[in-house]
Amino acid sequence: MTTAKRIALVTGGNKGIGLEISRNLAAAGCTVLLGARNVERGEQAVRQLGQTGLADVHFIEIDVTRQDTITATAQRIESSYRQLDILVNNAGVNLRGDGPPGAADLGVVQKVLDINFFGALRVTQAMLPLLRKSPAGRIVNVSSGLGSLAYNSDPSWSGYNWKLIGYNTSKVALNMLTVQLAYELRGTKIKVNSANPGYTKTDLNDNTGTQPVEVGAIEATRLALLDDTGPTGGSFSKDGPDPW
Ligand SMILES: NC(=O)c1ccc[n+]([C@@H]2O[C@H](COP(=O)([O-])OP(=O)(O)OC[C@H]3O[C@@H](n4cnc5c(N)ncnc54)[C@H](OP(=O)(O)O)[C@@H]3O)[C@@H](O)[C@H]2O)c1
Repeated sequence: MTTAKRIALVTGGNKGIGLEISRNLAAAGCTVLLGARNVERGEQAVRQLGQTGLADVHFIEIDVTRQDTITATAQRIESSYRQLDILVNNAGVNLRGDGPPGAADLGVVQKVLDINFFGALRVTQAMLPLLRKSPAGRIVNVSSGLGSLAYNSDPSWSGYNWKLIGYNTSKVALNMLTVQLAYELRGTKIKVNSANPGYTKTDLNDNTGTQPVEVGAIEATRLALLDDTGPTGGSFSKDGPDPW
């Protein structure tokens, strides 16, 4: 592990779990590029962290559905820092109109997949050359228990009745990205893992979650800061490994 300051990019960093991950990584001594699709909301979040003494946090405009913003982000990181050490694919949505397979609005399902899965894939592809330059690259895909086929088919699981074909499929696909990318990057210094935050009180679920963002951000933060002995290609919650 390098002793130089690590450069971290967090997508959807302006609120919820992403803001908390950004806070944690800055507190751990990283330079944090707080990604947000909305300039005003992103700059406000940076100011919020700055007011708590976390000064090395910088807004970067990144909409995971807009390749132009993703390319510009990669160029800015290349010119300012030469490399990227940590990528947290956190941006995600849960949209009205999603629902069980027989009733969900197909346009909504496609939109959810475009943000939650294709968004992460787009950003990952663009950042990979920068991550390869890191002595210890880390990619964290913020997934969900709803992305586990084992949990989805287990009647005793607490989220068993949440059958959202768009959202759940997007997280299953994101987990596949974790597995395949870890395979592709075997033999490199880059580790790739999925983090399941648990049911967390944020706008994503109209603040019905049962735990605060401080808890929801624990596992993604841990995986972002893994040392060289840490795992790759796995899915984890703060309580340990998750089944696929
Ligand atoms: N909350 C939970 O219980 C829970 C459980 C499991 C997994 N997760 C996952 O945790 C991650 C964070 O969710 P959250 O609960 O913190 O929700 P949140 O508070 O609604 O935050 C979602 C973030 O994603 C951003 N975003 C949405 N679409 C985007 C796009 N096209 N480009 C860039 N950013 C975009 C949002 O930006 P705007 O402010 O501009 O909308 C916001 O910053 C998501 O991937 C979610 O699926 C959450």
